[in-house]
Amino acid sequence: MKILIVYATRTGTAAKAAALLAEYFDGAAVFDLSNKLPDPEGYDAVIFGSGIRNGRILPPLRKWLSRYWKKIAPVTKGVFICNAVLDESPEIMKENFSLELRNSSAAVDSFGGELNPRKLRSRELIFMNPAVRKLAAGDSQEFVPCLLPDRIGHFAEEIQDALKAKAAKADSR
Ligand SMILES: Cc1cc2nc3c(=O)[nH]c(=O)nc-3n(C[C@H](O)[C@H](O)[C@H](O)COP(=O)(O)O)c2cc1C
Repeated sequence: MKILIVYATRTGTAAKAAALLAEYFDGAAVFDLSNKLPDPEGYDAVIFGSGIRNGRILPPLRKWLSRYWKKIAPVTKGVFICNAVLDESPEIMKENFSLELRNSSAAVDSFGGELNPRKLRSRELIFMNPAVRKLAAGDSQEFVPCLLPDRIGHFAEEIQDALKAKAAKADSR
């Protein structure tokens, strides 16, 4: 099976998530969309994700999706985001990805996020949404933002199950 994993990142979380995800798929091709917008043609499954800034996915993923949507749409898909405020994830998914995309994807999830204030520019700290600023400042006692490997494992299983179901359907024809 040929698997493509692409991501857009600002501080490296989505890159780490993509690398963890790739461990579940032998020989998966992994691309940072800031370097290249790979053609999804010929892949059995396409997985894409982005870090979140002020509720939005990053421009390279937006660009790649609009350039290749016709080729991506019919393929087995998975979409992930890396964000710090988990409660915001459903709304972020809804605002950034069409109903068609969400409904036709085998897996859709947030893998959590990281916030390292030392990696951020002062301008970013000023314009951050208040819930994120609280987390970045370490003012939240309930939750320290981090990547959630269990979610990545579960997401990978959902993609694998969808691929198996597709192969079984093709065999029965
Ligand atoms: C300026 C700024 C804005 C952010 N806005 C949001 C947000 O709206 N919602 C959220 O859940 N996380 C938000 N975050 C947290 C990031 O999504 C988190 O740091 C994530 O790990 C970034 O992924 P990346 O390194 O792959 O870009 C924000 C972080 C920064 C620095």
